[in-house]
Amino acid sequence: MKLKYLKIKGEACLSGDVEVSGSKNAILPILFSSLLVKGHHFFTNVPKLKDVEDALEMLKDLGLKTKQLQNQLFIDNSYSFEKNPAFKKASSFRASILCLGPLMALSYRLKLPLPGGCQIGSRPIDLHLEGLRKMGVSISIQKKKILAIPPAKGLKACHFKLPFPSVGATENLIMACVLAKGTSYLENIAYEPEILDLITYLKKMGAKIERKKRTLKITGVKKLKALKKSYSIIPDRIEAGTWLLAGACTRGQICIKKCNPKHLSFLLKKLKSLGFKIESQSDQILLKKSNKNYPGISIKTGVYPSFPTDLQAQFMALMLTLKGESSLKETIFEKRFRYIEQLNNLGAGIQFQGSSKVYVKGPAVLKAKSITAHDLRAGAGLILAALTSKGITKLYGLQHLERGYENLVFKLRYLGAEVKIQSP
Ligand code: UD1
Repeated sequence: MKLKYLKIKGEACLSGDVEVSGSKNAILPILFSSLLVKGHHFFTNVPKLKDVEDALEMLKDLGLKTKQLQNQLFIDNSYSFEKNPAFKKASSFRASILCLGPLMALSYRLKLPLPGGCQIGSRPIDLHLEGLRKMGVSISIQKKKILAIPPAKGLKACHFKLPFPSVGATENLIMACVLAKGTSYLENIAYEPEILDLITYLKKMGAKIERKKRTLKITGVKKLKALKKSYSIIPDRIEAGTWLLAGACTRGQICIKKCNPKHLSFLLKKLKSLGFKIESQSDQILLKKSNKNYPGISIKTGVYPSFPTDLQAQFMALMLTLKGESSLKETIFEKRFRYIEQLNNLGAGIQFQGSSKVYVKGPAVLKAKSITAHDLRAGAGLILAALTSKGITKLYGLQHLERGYENLVFKLRYLGAEVKIQSP
């Protein structure tokens, strides 16, 4: 079977302005949180992406009505939920698991296919389940389906210390706790900006949530109330970081608009330490043109506010252009380095030190070839590397990129990249 691919002309220098879309990882939990509240929900700055489409399909399976017009989204949650929907889309993306917390809070007996998503590690859901079990939910997994039965008298508040600050488990448990009886304490939580956006939305609807660093105190309320006004989703920090790194890799001048520089402080600090000239304002970042030989650097991914694993592959593309030795350690997902083989096909010369650390002596001279993205962020990293290669790269695996980057090809072209989707 012939597949479509992205044709990318190398030796590019990206320049110009680019507007960042709304955050994928913020809208997904927020969409599921709308299950908690009967009435109408309006959102703005919603990215048009495959994962969002799939989440909306799941809401529709439950009987909600949804309409997305450009970046505005309307959800009507005025109807009784359907019983036993098939949730056909649940196994195509990871965030489908986020319907679990809200549906347990609503005492809904649920049969849910196990989540899918990028193959970047084993991605268990034990922390989600452990927390919900503490709240009285009876959960089993049978034939690749989660069977969750909430307690007859509603969820009870819990005191739960997450063994690891998982983003998804934190979100699921927040949504479960807001309507539970009593006061819950969640310790060692993740507090990525997307989680704080979910908390802001829930608080606006009447939830009682207080945060002190990695601890949340959530006092259950009887009911939440839908907002009368629309709610605007935060900008996508991973998209903003991808553009920043695209500019840095190609030594171009890029102004990233409609972003929140505070969400990218770690990346900005690293780029500045290399010598890149960057000016930030409240909602934009200007990366100045440069042509210097910057030195190698060491990066280790970590939970927020450390370096985001979702920018790891894009940063590797930059490392290949640096002069000297660079190293990159991944601490979140064990299979995030599948793209290294593809880069080495282009001539990157990246070496493994164990399974979670790689190092490279740059600058690498990359020669275009056919390569394949096996996950979303790897796809972004491979595009950046292709832009710095000699020749025309063919990148396969575009279905992954469609899940997370809105108008990707349009934005790349607007910045001067010569890219084109080739259909078979
Ligand atoms: C979210 C993001 C993803 C990002 C990741 C880390 C969404 C939709 N996706 O994914 O883009 O890369 O955060 O910033 O927001 N873990 C367990 N048991 C669990 C849950 C997680 O062992 O029950 C492990 C995972 O296997 C992984 C680590 O914890 O090794 C982090 O996972 P988690 O923070 O939960 O990531 P996601 O919510 O899946």
